[in-house]
Amino acid sequence: MRKFHIETFGCQMNVHDSEKIAGLLSLAGYGRAESEEQATLHVVNTCSVREKAESKLHSYLGRLGRRKREGDDLVIGVMGCVAQQEGRDLLCQAPYVDFVLGTHQLSAVGDVMRQIEETRAPVVQTAMVAELDELAPSVAERAHPGRAYVTIMEGCNKFCTFCVVPYTRGRERCRSFESILAEIEYLAGSGAREIQLLGQNVNCWRDGNRRFIDLLRAVEVTQVEWLRFITSHPAHFGEELAEWMAQSTKLCPQLHLPLQSGSDEVLSRMRREYNCDEFRRKISDLRMRIPSIALSTDIIAGFPGETDEDFARTMEVCREIRFDSMFSFVYSPRRYTAAGRWTDDVPAEIKLLRLRSLQEMQRQIQTETNRALVQREMRVLVDGRSKKSPHVYCGRSACNRVVNFVAPAPPRPGDFARVRITNSGPNSLFGEAMGS
Ligand code: SAH
Ligand code: SF4
Ligand code: F3S
Repeated sequence: MRKFHIETFGCQMNVHDSEKIAGLLSLAGYGRAESEEQATLHVVNTCSVREKAESKLHSYLGRLGRRKREGDDLVIGVMGCVAQQEGRDLLCQAPYVDFVLGTHQLSAVGDVMRQIEETRAPVVQTAMVAELDELAPSVAERAHPGRAYVTIMEGCNKFCTFCVVPYTRGRERCRSFESILAEIEYLAGSGAREIQLLGQNVNCWRDGNRRFIDLLRAVEVTQVEWLRFITSHPAHFGEELAEWMAQSTKLCPQLHLPLQSGSDEVLSRMRREYNCDEFRRKISDLRMRIPSIALSTDIIAGFPGETDEDFARTMEVCREIRFDSMFSFVYSPRRYTAAGRWTDDVPAEIKLLRLRSLQEMQRQIQTETNRALVQREMRVLVDGRSKKSPHVYCGRSACNRVVNFVAPAPPRPGDFARVRITNSGPNSLFGEAMGS
């Protein structure tokens, strides 16, 4: 039987999808390879949100294709957002690919593999379907012993003009209240301490009359200790949810709220459905209710038509809000999207200059904000040993900061540790464990 390796690009949704793919392949009789080199079944779970992600995919696929041409008996499958977007065209670009499975076809992976072993003919399945796949909660092979992702919805109806996701993931499809809770109960029973609810726009989750807040209230009475959700859309993030975040004993004091730009003109052309003042008001309301809340955001630099003044507004708003962390990108035109048809008129070097100045300012802000956390005591969910040093452990705090720490006895991944912060950098904290 073949051994598989899954290479994952993209967001948490893809990371979790790869856990499901691994589970489905195991059920079909395949085992996980100890290393990438030993694998003879390669699944690449892809992302097309920016050009960079797509070009990384093509160089990765190219390497696998070379191995196959040189005689390695490999089966190569492409799944995820690029698979959905390109479909059969991928076979022309990369003729060594054996199967292309779109985002709505994930659960077919076992059957498709059986078919390929029998016929050796390539398979392409990219049909979109109305119902979400319902896999048993035990199927996904979750990588982390203490932190579990739970998909609550897939797809998006917002159609921001820069974004390919509504085309690659399709329209919003919500899982039922009952199946989400059943999965969370199962996970809590098998040792998960933290749950992260996933969806492209979680605030719009619905099941009949039940809304996202009803789901959060239901998780409150489970054994789960920490709860997070990603991603919220600023136009749909309301006071009721802010108040529940303040009251809940499980929701971590942390929120990812993608601003994208500080200019109202740009926001309107992005079709984001909020303006900068509304965003600011939501942030100050949240900080009033939860003073310690850690806020993260996404920013795009160089959207079509973005002037120096527009970008100066983005800098100004970010300087004023002082996000605790930020994911920032240069704009890249995407197929199918509205903005993809407009002139990409900000020169590449200007986009990069803007990105650099934003990142430099953000680094300074994070250095200062994190420094103020030295001497604090934090509860940290342990990930494992740090990659840099075997004597150092790492994990995440409730505020979602990376915490590296030393400990008298090795803590187990998935356990909580109490850590006193002794040092800080722009992207992480350093500390000493004090027992759990
Ligand atoms: N559902 C989330 C995230 C979508 S993709 C949301 O609504 O915000 C994650 C981030 O990628 C986006 O927030 C955006 O900042 C960035 N992004 C999406 N399309 C992009 C593009 N064409 N060019 C550059 N960045 C992009
Ligand atoms: Fe993309 Fe906008 Fe939907 Fe987020 S809300 S996934 S940015 S279309
Ligand atoms: Fe990428 Fe698809 Fe996620 S485009 S960001 S993997 S939804």
